[in-house]
Amino acid sequence: MSSDAADRQIDLRSDTVTRPTPAMWEAMHSAALGDDVLGDDPTVILLQQTVAERLGKEAGLYVPSGTMSNQLALKAQTEAGDHALLAGGAHIFLYEAGAPAFLCGLLTRTLEAPRGWIEWPQIEAAMHPQNVHCAPTRLVCLENTHNQAGGIIFPQEKMIEIGARAREHGLRVHLDGARLWHTHVATGLSLADLAAPCDTVSVCFSKGLGAPVGSVLVGDRQTIDRAYRFRKMWGGGMRQSGLLAGACLYALEHHIDRLAEDHAHARMLAEGLDHPSLSVNHPVDTNIVVFDVEGPGRDEALLDHLAAHGVLGIGFGPGRVRMIPHLDTSTEDIHRTLAALNSFR
Ligand SMILES: Cc1ncc(COP(=O)(O)O)c(C=O)c1O
Repeated sequence: MSSDAADRQIDLRSDTVTRPTPAMWEAMHSAALGDDVLGDDPTVILLQQTVAERLGKEAGLYVPSGTMSNQLALKAQTEAGDHALLAGGAHIFLYEAGAPAFLCGLLTRTLEAPRGWIEWPQIEAAMHPQNVHCAPTRLVCLENTHNQAGGIIFPQEKMIEIGARAREHGLRVHLDGARLWHTHVATGLSLADLAAPCDTVSVCFSKGLGAPVGSVLVGDRQTIDRAYRFRKMWGGGMRQSGLLAGACLYALEHHIDRLAEDHAHARMLAEGLDHPSLSVNHPVDTNIVVFDVEGPGRDEALLDHLAAHGVLGIGFGPGRVRMIPHLDTSTEDIHRTLAALNSFR
């Protein structure tokens, strides 16, 4: 290993830290541009159509972030005062700054989901009766893969059951598919099959796929038209955003299949761990590894120790440290990270 490689910081805090590759920059540079608020940016139009087609939905909407995409899905499919159900560890509930309450006026109820997925009987039991005393239950939110649970894949047969039963009960289903690409690569199921049980799906290009900015919300035309109005209202209309959409189109074509490499790196991290007070207690289905750290304050000590060895992880709740290998992570980086983890005292 050259001393440059040994000195290089290994940033595993998230798969969002990637920089565009030279070929991605080139795709951005050569993207045809218009004014997307005036509706004529050809690259944004192409991205929206392509993603909608790949996910088997009528229409798509390009937005700046996964948070905006999720919240637009909630806003477009509910009214203030409605009731929505989701897993306790859902990104939408935990990490979107209270937006379901603040932006959408929703009453949320969380369901127990140690592995990140919920089942139809839990949803049915939590639905409100239809009477004047109760907020109408309108929406169920799912997440695939599940970030907080450690990149776990939502079992497809359970999602199909939820989709079918929700329809019978007049509920809408939104999927936070920030990392749906990872499920697609790990299971071999098509993106359209994975999206089929849900009315709306949000996918991100800045997580794992290496694009600098952007998510797309897909669904039926009426819902996406409603989301489009709220995107403008929330200040998410962008002008020459084809520049960014060009990176997303490039990522769609070139950076999906390679996710298998990130999954292999994540498994290497879990399997190579050899330490009395560190453990990984979730299936490593995809690219996320959550380490449980024994002992009060030892999670902070671990992060400091790793940083001193040129490796960055991120605190993920008390006693938990998360690492996500990504496009800019090499197998050599994984070996160095394991050496740092295993030398923690
Ligand atoms: C599962 C999941 N959903 C949504 C988001 C939000 O994406 P953004 O940071 O682009 O708002 C994230 C971000 O990491 C995420 O992990």
